[in-house]
Amino acid sequence: METLIEKVVARQILDSRGIPTVEVDVVLENGKVGRASTPSGLSRGSHEAFELRDNLADFYAGRSVWQAVNNVNVVLAEKIVGMNVFRQKEIDDLMIELDGTPDKHRLGANAILPVSLAVARGAAESLEVPLYRYLGGIFATGIPIPMVNVLNGGAHADNRLDIQEFMLVPHSFSSFADSLRATCETFYSLKRILHERGLSTNVGDEGGFAPDLESHEEAFDLLIQAIESAGYLPERQISLAIDAASNEFFEDGAYYFEGAKRTAKEMALMFEGWTQKYPICSIEDGMAQDDWLGWLFLNEILGDKIMIVGDDLFASNRLRIEKGVQKRAANAVLVKPNQVGTLTETFESIRFSQNNGLKIILSHRSGETIDAFIADLSVAVHADYIKSGSVSRTERTAKYNQLFRIESDMS
Ligand code: PGA
Ligand code: ZN
Repeated sequence: METLIEKVVARQILDSRGIPTVEVDVVLENGKVGRASTPSGLSRGSHEAFELRDNLADFYAGRSVWQAVNNVNVVLAEKIVGMNVFRQKEIDDLMIELDGTPDKHRLGANAILPVSLAVARGAAESLEVPLYRYLGGIFATGIPIPMVNVLNGGAHADNRLDIQEFMLVPHSFSSFADSLRATCETFYSLKRILHERGLSTNVGDEGGFAPDLESHEEAFDLLIQAIESAGYLPERQISLAIDAASNEFFEDGAYYFEGAKRTAKEMALMFEGWTQKYPICSIEDGMAQDDWLGWLFLNEILGDKIMIVGDDLFASNRLRIEKGVQKRAANAVLVKPNQVGTLTETFESIRFSQNNGLKIILSHRSGETIDAFIADLSVAVHADYIKSGSVSRTERTAKYNQLFRIESDMS
C-alpha cells in the first residue's frame, strides 16, 4: 500500500489560552489532507520533550513558535515529502534522527508531534476510514471512561486551592453517552450550588469552576453534594479523582500544602485520610516528579485500592515508565503525546505500560486546540480512561464530542 506525501505545511495558530502553537497539514498525492496541531502544558514536568519557543520579548511575550514552524516547513518537509504516508514508524524514526537529541531539543517536540499526528490522520483520510479504526483496527471497540475536571485549582486557576484538578469519574454506566450525561448534570448542579453560596462560577483553563474555597475538603463536599443533587449515587455511580500536580508546590524536598510544610509521608497519609472519607478512585502526581521514595510509599499504602497515576513522574516516556515499574512507584500512566513527541513513541509507551499491568489514561493539556486526536487514540489503544477537562469550553468538549461520534459509529 502506498500513497506519497506531496506537501508538508506548518503554520502558527493560537491555543485555548491565546498562546501560539503549531498546526501542520500533510497533503497527499491523492489530494487528501491530514491536519493536526499540538497542545501545550502549564504544569510541565522537566522530563518532558522540549517545546521550542522563540523567546523574542516583543512578540507574543516570547511565546511565538515561528522557529518550530520553520523547522517543519524547511528541515522536516524536505525529507518527508515523497515518503509513503503509511510508513508511520519510518517517518517518526526519521524525525527523531534528524533532531538527534534525546528530548527533541533541536527541532522541538512542538514541530515533530503535529507532523507525526498529521501523517496518521492523512493515512486514515486516504483510506477513508475513521482515525480510531486506522490506528486501532477492528478490535478497537470500547470507549474509555471520562475523568472530567469540574473544579480547577493550582496553576490552572486564580484561587487558593493547591490541588490542580478535581474530577468526576462516572464509572458505572453502560455507555459513554450515559456517562457523560451524568457528568453534565452534575456539572449543572455544581454551578447552581456555587451560585447559591455566592461563590464564583467562572471557569479555569480546563473549563472547570474555579471558586475560592477555604479548603480542599470543602471541594470534595461540594462535589458529593452536586452528585447527589443531580440524582446520582457517589461512589456507586460517580467517584472522584484528583490531580495534585504536586511539583507545583514541592521545593527543596518538602511539600508546601495548605500553608504548611509537609513531608512526603505526611502528604501520603493525608491522601489516605481523604480516600477514607470520600469516594476517591484516583490520585495523579500525589508526589513530585523525582520523589521516588514518596511515590513508593504512596503506592504501597493506596495502590491496591485506587489508581496511583504518574504524569510528570513518567512524562509518557518509556524509560521513565520502566523505572517506575521496577520501583513500584505507581499503577497507572497518564499519556500525553506531546510529552514524548511522536505517535510511535506514544504507542510504545502505552504498549509497555499495558504489558506491565499499568492502567492507561489518555490526556489533553491545559493549553489545547480543537484537535480531537487523543479521543481517537484513546479508543485505538484501549485506554482505560480519558482526561479532557470539563464539559465546558469547546477545546475540551471537542474530545468528548468525538467520542460521541465514535460510539455512534460503532453501534
Ligand atoms: P498541564 O496540566 O497540561 O498544564 O501540564 C495537565 C496535567 O497536569 O495533567
Ligand atoms: Zn497532571
